[in-house]
Amino acid sequence: MTEVQQAPVITVDGPSGSGKGTISQILATKLGYHLLDSGALYRLTALSVIKNDIPLDDIAAIEEAALNLDVVFKPSSDGSEQTVLLNSEDVGVQLRLDDTSAMASKVAVIPEVRTALLTRQRKFRQKPGLVADGRDMGTVVFTDAKHKVFLTASPEIRADRRYKQLTEKGVNASIPHLLKSIIERDERDRTRTVAPLVPAEGALVVDSSELTIDEVVQQIIDFINN
Ligand code: C5P
Repeated sequence: MTEVQQAPVITVDGPSGSGKGTISQILATKLGYHLLDSGALYRLTALSVIKNDIPLDDIAAIEEAALNLDVVFKPSSDGSEQTVLLNSEDVGVQLRLDDTSAMASKVAVIPEVRTALLTRQRKFRQKPGLVADGRDMGTVVFTDAKHKVFLTASPEIRADRRYKQLTEKGVNASIPHLLKSIIERDERDRTRTVAPLVPAEGALVVDSSELTIDEVVQQIIDFINN
């Protein structure tokens, strides 16, 4: 029997603020690949938990919510943005709210939720290829990906980027407070027992602190072409 050729995957993992969302989107557009924003699936599960008032200790109900997400991702015509529909409702704004982010990182530590989302994430692997953005794309979800990238940036730079994002939206923010929360979250993500945030073996590690977006994209393209 001939082996079915799997579509190629480029995994882009890293902490929030490392620029992986932006970089993954540019890469997917440049290569004509599909894009998986795996964080959105954790955020959607969180939103479903919030909307249905599911208590955090009701693991079975949260697992059900993750398994049964009725979600549609609709990319814009130039691929630069996507509309996210949960039960036919556009939840783009709700997904980014602080409450949703906080709940997402809480549901993400539940092993049953991670397992429930595995199949859904793997379905994104379609021809001509996939750019998969997350925390465990190279270490758990697509371990056989040929090209794995781990994007990072200093906590100070990430706090600064987040500060700019928030103030641009008119949200009050303080750099020392953001820095403290980034350092705490890094510690939690790296030391959690399920799918901790670490570079996959053989990953290209890129520190984006002193690089422009174009420079990061170019490093990754060079890595893929070698
Ligand atoms: O990337 P984003 O900030 O949207 O992810 C939201 C949350 O989902 C993260 O804080 C993280 O806890 C979780 N996550 C994860 N594994 C992934 C993607 C996201 O645990 N592959």
